[in-house]
Amino acid sequence: MDDEQRAPYDPMPHGPAEVGVGPWEGPWPTDPRYDAVLLAEGDRRNVVDRYRYWTVEAIVADLDTHRHDFHVAIENWQHDFNIGTIVRTANAFLAAEVHIVGNRHWNRRGAMVTDRYQHVRHHATAADLAAYLHDSDVRLLGIDNLPGSSHLETMDLPRRVCFLFGQEGPGLSETAREACDGTFSIAQFGSTRSINASAAAAIAMHTWIREYADLGGEDAWRG
Ligand SMILES: C[S@@+](CC[C@H](N)C(=O)[O-])C[C@H]1O[C@@H](n2cnc3c(N)ncnc32)[C@H](O)[C@@H]1O
Repeated sequence: MDDEQRAPYDPMPHGPAEVGVGPWEGPWPTDPRYDAVLLAEGDRRNVVDRYRYWTVEAIVADLDTHRHDFHVAIENWQHDFNIGTIVRTANAFLAAEVHIVGNRHWNRRGAMVTDRYQHVRHHATAADLAAYLHDSDVRLLGIDNLPGSSHLETMDLPRRVCFLFGQEGPGLSETAREACDGTFSIAQFGSTRSINASAAAAIAMHTWIREYADLGGEDAWRG
């Protein structure tokens, strides 16, 4: 496949043109987790190898048995294009839930259908989000480079935590800051005022992974 044949937003523009497996070969399996259409036609989805031929429902049920204790939230007042990519990263790092604060409809383009495997919850306001999380003893941390923010790099990161991100341009709204249990920044050393919101989200999520994830288990996919 040459570059002109690729989808306009190819998830792996420099990777193999096709991933996955072809139609099932050999005796027909009886495992109820398998999808009959995928078995017959092949499975070219962007999923890790252990989920080949599984239905979406079976994959979600399996992910639900070992989701991590961190959540991710983002304000959605302008249909920020970063929301989709944050959902995709939340899927990769197996967030408990993703929360959309503000407008219900969000820009799904960057999610590359990973939202189908993730629990995405809507809240009208950041105060509603905070109340929902506090009911389950989850602390809400605003992530933004605001005056007075503490350092994400040196904080004692709680295990049960939700990272809340602002949008490109305005950053975290005043009401969101007020709803948070604290705000934390990622140290920068260059000239730009900020990094991209989805890049900041990936850094924050990986901070949790470094602290708490089981890197030795079979679920730690490295390709
Ligand atoms: C482009 S920034 C917004 C504005 C930023 N507060 C400013 O002063 O320009 C968009 C979002 O990305 C995240 N972000 C970007 N750079 C960050 C950093 N250095 N530390 C923490 N969060 C950051 C925050 O969630 C922020 O709300």
